Amino acid sequence: MRKFVSFAVFAAALAGFATSRPAGAEDKKDPEIKVPYVPTNQAVVEAMLKLAAVKEGETVYDLGCGDGRIVITAVGQFKAKRGLGVDFNPERLKDCDESVKKAIEGKKLTADQAKTLTFKQGDVLKMTPEDFKDVDVVTLYLLPEVNKRLKPILQKGLKPGARVVSHDFDMGEDWKEDKKEEVKSERSYPHTIYLWTIKKK
Ligand SMILES: C[S@@+](CC[C@H](N)C(=O)[O-])C[C@H]1O[C@@H](n2cnc3c(N)ncnc32)[C@H](O)[C@@H]1O
Repeated sequence: MRKFVSFAVFAAALAGFATSRPAGAEDKKDPEIKVPYVPTNQAVVEAMLKLAAVKEGETVYDLGCGDGRIVITAVGQFKAKRGLGVDFNPERLKDCDESVKKAIEGKKLTADQAKTLTFKQGDVLKMTPEDFKDVDVVTLYLLPEVNKRLKPILQKGLKPGARVVSHDFDMGEDWKEDKKEEVKSERSYPHTIYLWTIKKK
């Protein structure tokens, strides 16, 4: 809850940026819910991918990918075969390109690995079960309301054995996590990460 308070304070500071709006209000291209940009600390990124047990050859999606750090780490360090990041904000997609360049320069990603990364503009609330059929791991750092909306899509679209990992926010009472961990970073508050594994249908 402390983390949510920190996040909520940040969100409030953005004065309405994170508000929920009726579909079609103002700019029709805007997502109905826009979660503010707060990057996951790198120590927490690595803990999330470890908790999800990302393996060589797997496909990892980050919904609301920010600067792309989660999928870059999944491919560069955890040897995932492919990473997709989706973000509604074109500024974040520019950040992703910059992050890829820096990761290659810093030898955290090879040029060939970079070719397996895709960053695309889109609203995660418009994704369908079909979008997740070949995905092994989905990572989230969104808000409870968004997780709640994504829950049935992920449950329907992901194959048995696929994992969902979320930073700080769970999926509600009707989808209890299989595992939960506290992670420390240099930030003053601890982070909670949650894991769900899709069961046999
Ligand atoms: C809290 S940040 C997390 C960034 C990244 N996943 C990380 O953990 O470092 C949330 C991100 O989701 C994006 N976002 C918010 N609402 C979205 C929506 N409805 N569809 C797509 N992206 C969204 C924001 O632009 C922001 O980059």
